[in-house]
Amino acid sequence: MSASLATVSYIGATILFILSLGGLSNPETSRRGNWYGIIGMTIAVLATIFGPRVTSGGIAWIIIAMTMGGAVGLYAARKVKMTQMPELVALMHSLVGFAACTVGFASYIDNSVEFTGAEKAIHEMEIYVGILIGAVTFSGSVIAFGKLSGKINGKPLLLPARHFINLAGLLVVIWMGNVFINAESALGGVFPLILMTAIALAFGVHMVMAIGGADMPVVVSMLNSYSGWAAAATGFMLSNDLLIVTGALVGSSGAILSYIMCRAMNRHFISVIAGGFGTGDGGSAKKGDAAQEPVGEVVPVSAADTAELLLDAKNVIIVPGYGMAVAQAQHTVYEITKILREKGINVRFGIHPVAGRMPGHMNVLLAEAKVPYDIVLEMDELNDDFPTTDVAMVIGANDIVNPGAQDDPDSPIAGMPVLEVWKAKTSIVMKRSMASGYAGVDNPLFYKENNRMLFGDAKKMLDEVLAVIKG
Ligand code: TAP
Repeated sequence: MSASLATVSYIGATILFILSLGGLSNPETSRRGNWYGIIGMTIAVLATIFGPRVTSGGIAWIIIAMTMGGAVGLYAARKVKMTQMPELVALMHSLVGFAACTVGFASYIDNSVEFTGAEKAIHEMEIYVGILIGAVTFSGSVIAFGKLSGKINGKPLLLPARHFINLAGLLVVIWMGNVFINAESALGGVFPLILMTAIALAFGVHMVMAIGGADMPVVVSMLNSYSGWAAAATGFMLSNDLLIVTGALVGSSGAILSYIMCRAMNRHFISVIAGGFGTGDGGSAKKGDAAQEPVGEVVPVSAADTAELLLDAKNVIIVPGYGMAVAQAQHTVYEITKILREKGINVRFGIHPVAGRMPGHMNVLLAEAKVPYDIVLEMDELNDDFPTTDVAMVIGANDIVNPGAQDDPDSPIAGMPVLEVWKAKTSIVMKRSMASGYAGVDNPLFYKENNRMLFGDAKKMLDEVLAVIKG
């Protein structure tokens, strides 16, 4: 393939990536957006493999590597459960960071291209910054994977003088950068490069370890952004324009998503990165901890009574959460919604921006079950409607409907906007036990007078509700 054809292909792929991002911003156009991305990536890979910079001897190596990587990716994608998706995404981010580090070291050791003067300094800066971002992304993503999969405790690790440690690390990194750029001998920069990599790896671990359960959504999207910048840095090292543009697209869209997440959680971006928010471990309510002790009586309700309450209602709002994804209850939810709507009952869905374990988690599940998009509303669009709602049905959600976020200034989720289901005439919470949600905090909603608890697996309970509604 000639250089000009490769360039035209790269421009085509770039346009498709931008269209893809545009498409993915709305459930109705997301399938199309996905296809734009797939076609763009296929063009990008083919133009790179058959482009002027790869020798015929190199093609065989690339095909071997792609077959191995593709096989692992295919296996992982087929095996992964929807609820494990954020962990898989975190692992993938770590691979981008790892690639940026290895490409950086290889570019520095490789002496087949001779750089001199300003060009040499720029190339070495690219290597230094690329490895720095790559190492932070790699270790931070591995820790995020551990926290999301429950292999590492979700409690924030708050080292004494942690901000001072971070600052000291930053100063050493800047100083090592100076030593690296001014190294006299051919490989004289290897030691500062290795020392900086070690500090960056430690910083990535420290940064994510210091973040509490409730703030993990921001970290996941932030690492997504970092992985984009790591890819862009790799593009600079390899002088590959498409990689620079693609990395910048991922980096900036990830940064925008992090900002949106921060607003949804009512957090300051810098404070989240500095760490220490959210103190829960995502497990069950712990004995002996005053904040975790049940603070009242709960009123259980049966599936049959839930069905009656729904049939008697005029307005119903369903609030799905992580438990709906675990139970895979979305199809039964759709069946119930369909019948209620046929009976003239106004059924809508309230979606919290961080419901579930990844951005858009609930929207994807509901779209898969064919729930019409126009009745799936964002938190801000229907939070004012709860006082005129007869039944608010919470399916496997917990933190996102916790009134403590508004009433308890000491709560780890204090300040996070929540869906005000307790303002409905009756709220019904469907979950298996009194266990806390991801943030590890007790939920005062359960003890409210107008609240009912439907204990059991969401799918099983909803099947029972459906059977009664069908009559
Ligand atoms: P959670 O607060 O995690 O609550 C989910 C509830 O579902 C649990 O209390 C659990 O109670 C219940 N559950 C689990 N399996 C169930 C099943 N089979 N049937 C019925 N119920 C089941 O979820 P949420 O309300 O969706 O809030 C999301 C939380 O995750 C927030 O704290 C958010 O910060 C965090 N987070 C979000 C993201 C993104 S990007 N969305 C990423 C990482 C973390 P039982 O065990 O008693 O059943």
